[in-house]
Amino acid sequence: MRNLSQPFILAPSKPYGLSLAFRTVPDIDPERAVNRLSDGFEPGAAVVGLGEPLVRNLPKTIPGLRTFPAFSGPACTVPSTQASLWVLVTGENRTEVFERSESFVRHLDKDFILEDSMDTFIYAGGRDLTGYEDGTENPNDAERPKVALVDRGKGLQGSSFVAVQRWVHNLDLFHSQSKNQRNNIIGRKQDTNEELENAPLSAHVKRSAQESYDPAAFMLRRSMPWSRDRERGLEFIAFGKTLDAFERVLRRMTGFDDGIVDALFSFSRPVRGGYYWCPPVRKNRLDLSYFSRL
Ligand code: HEM
Repeated sequence: MRNLSQPFILAPSKPYGLSLAFRTVPDIDPERAVNRLSDGFEPGAAVVGLGEPLVRNLPKTIPGLRTFPAFSGPACTVPSTQASLWVLVTGENRTEVFERSESFVRHLDKDFILEDSMDTFIYAGGRDLTGYEDGTENPNDAERPKVALVDRGKGLQGSSFVAVQRWVHNLDLFHSQSKNQRNNIIGRKQDTNEELENAPLSAHVKRSAQESYDPAAFMLRRSMPWSRDRERGLEFIAFGKTLDAFERVLRRMTGFDDGIVDALFSFSRPVRGGYYWCPPVRKNRLDLSYFSRL
């Protein structure tokens, strides 16, 4: 299959990012806005996703795109902060990310209002700020397109869906626990990354084991840590050919299947969440031909 996806989705990570969420201006002309978005898009510099509030203004809906659900489980809550547009600007250094995002935000400012931004980075070669390797069980290079990309449909082939969820960690609390307790929260050994044989059912890798779902809940995680003032956490970012795998895993993490809550909630909590459709790319532009009148 010719690769029509936005390059970020399958490419190796760049060390710096800026995660931006926008709402639309009240009197938006959606078709003009989407055309301008496509004009200002540099495929190597960012990944762009359209949220349901924006798509609802356009002539067609995207099958499978929906608003991020807010829900709660025993002693844990999952908020929704669904935005109209999500952009992750990436780069080799902060200068590059800053300059790219400044010009992109300026380019969009007639149609979109920036409502949230968060600097992100790759920590210690791909670890979460807890020190645990993140992404070990991601699909391999050959499997990634099958997991992350829509494989058919005019204007849809090569597109992807992404779940973006900001988690805030209490690292003092996490580090106040013994090494064994910490390993039991994740379900892996921090120093060797080996999976624990007898991890508790609440361990994160037990809750999220992709092959324990029917059908298997494969997703491509490209999360990035963040740190601002005294707050820190993970900008969880997962691509899929649909949003279903993410949602099924999140529901099990919050205890929906069996009442067991993921031990991650003992030191971390989600504070933002949105679902987006990432259009394919053609001739170095976002391909928005799916919305036929555009
Ligand atoms: C505080 C937020 C989170 C942290 C720190 C975190 C961290 C980790 C770590 C360290 C692993 C083990 C290594 C690996 O396979 O990557 C892992 C696995 C995984 N996580 Fe998370 N995660 C978080 C949230 C989530 C969420 C919200 C989801 C999806 C709803 C998720 C889905 C997965 C999946 C599917 C795996 C692989 C499980 C497997 O098949 O073995 N994670 N995560």
